[in-house]
Amino acid sequence: MIHSITFRRWKSFLDTTLYLDQIMVLIGMNASGKSNVLDALSLLKALADGEELEKALSNLRGGAEFAPLYGRDSFELEVEFHQNETDKIEKEFTYKIRINIMNNIQITAEKIKLKESGIEFDTKPILFENNKLQIIKDGEFEIKIPSNISIINKTLIYFFSEEVSKYIKYINNVFTNILNLDVIPKNINHFAEISDLLENDGSNLAGVLAALDDAKRQKIEQQLTEYLTRLPENDVGKVWVEKIGLLGRNAMLYCEETWPNGQTFNIDSRRMSDGTLRFLAILTALLTRPEGSNLIIEEVDNGLHPSRAKLLLEMLREIAVKRQIDVLVTTHNPALLDAMTPDYIGFITVAHRNPQGYSELTLLDNVDALPKLLASGGVGYLATTGKLDQAIEDTQEQGE
Ligand SMILES: Nc1ncnc2c1ncn2[C@@H]1O[C@H](COP(=O)(O)OP(=O)(O)OP(=O)(O)O)[C@@H](O)[C@H]1O
Ligand SMILES: [Mg+2]
Repeated sequence: MIHSITFRRWKSFLDTTLYLDQIMVLIGMNASGKSNVLDALSLLKALADGEELEKALSNLRGGAEFAPLYGRDSFELEVEFHQNETDKIEKEFTYKIRINIMNNIQITAEKIKLKESGIEFDTKPILFENNKLQIIKDGEFEIKIPSNISIINKTLIYFFSEEVSKYIKYINNVFTNILNLDVIPKNINHFAEISDLLENDGSNLAGVLAALDDAKRQKIEQQLTEYLTRLPENDVGKVWVEKIGLLGRNAMLYCEETWPNGQTFNIDSRRMSDGTLRFLAILTALLTRPEGSNLIIEEVDNGLHPSRAKLLLEMLREIAVKRQIDVLVTTHNPALLDAMTPDYIGFITVAHRNPQGYSELTLLDNVDALPKLLASGGVGYLATTGKLDQAIEDTQEQGE
């Protein structure tokens, strides 16, 4: 799993590290760098999925031009993995990629380094033929690959020695399993095709649930019901999906709603509220994504009533721990932050600008005055009143 990611000359970052955990809540002012963090994960996923470098970069906000820090030609991302699988690979290792965007957009270095033994698998960027090919030395072998294709692309796995390919396979699997969920409720209002893969916008959640075998589906429907009953004004009795159409290739989401006057209605997703659909899409992702995978959700509480922030937080944490899913979310919601009791403090990272203007990421735990500050109010209060940013500034000044 991803232990940390270091951003060097990446967008607004000069050199800073984000640590991931079962849950990590990324907070910070507008334009502090939160989405820039998530963009880096999207890029790594695109490269692992096999996308060409130029295309992967052009799909990012700002395209290739704004990928490196202003005035710089290249950027570097370094990911540290910690894993417990046996497959005879070292527990801790890093993967580093450097990308140049000046003149030719190309990958100029890729390295996998094993922490314990210190072994480094280095891709030697000996570029030739108009910079279109690079040579990778893997033990005795030399492998020529296009300079716009990453080694973590799964189609290349078989060209490497068994020793190297084990790590590449692991890295590829982690990156390809990243889901960056950006739920768009109006896209859920239709009959979804049966599918194994949840779309980024959550639109096919009914299709994903309907694709499961009966026992698993029923268990998940029960969990959806349990959490959803705690969400809306009206009572929700049950949540379920049904296959529809002559061939059963589509599916629809339903829930039973009871009004205060005792009347009960079955409603489908076309009539559910936006907040309900968002909540169900997040839950479906948590309950169906592969164990050990990363789930990213920007503005996770978007559209949810502040009084439900605590419920959302509990749900994220409970399921993330149970299913070994690492959740990374951003939020601006003081209610969600105030719901973060002291045992959550280690799971909050603040994005902020340093005195030179670069974005930095500080674990809330590392802010010197934190215990004293928390005595005056919750994290939401501290963020809203600017006390948190002041304390981070003070910590930085003391460190200089
Ligand atoms: N290549 C770059 N070099 C320097 N700064 C950059 C670069 N690309 C983007 N930025 C800066 O990053 C900032 C935007 O960061 P980001 O989108 O991550 O903000 P955010 O924390 O997600 O904010 P919000 O809460 O408003 O969504 C802008 O100030 C922009 O100038
Ligand atoms: Mg943003």
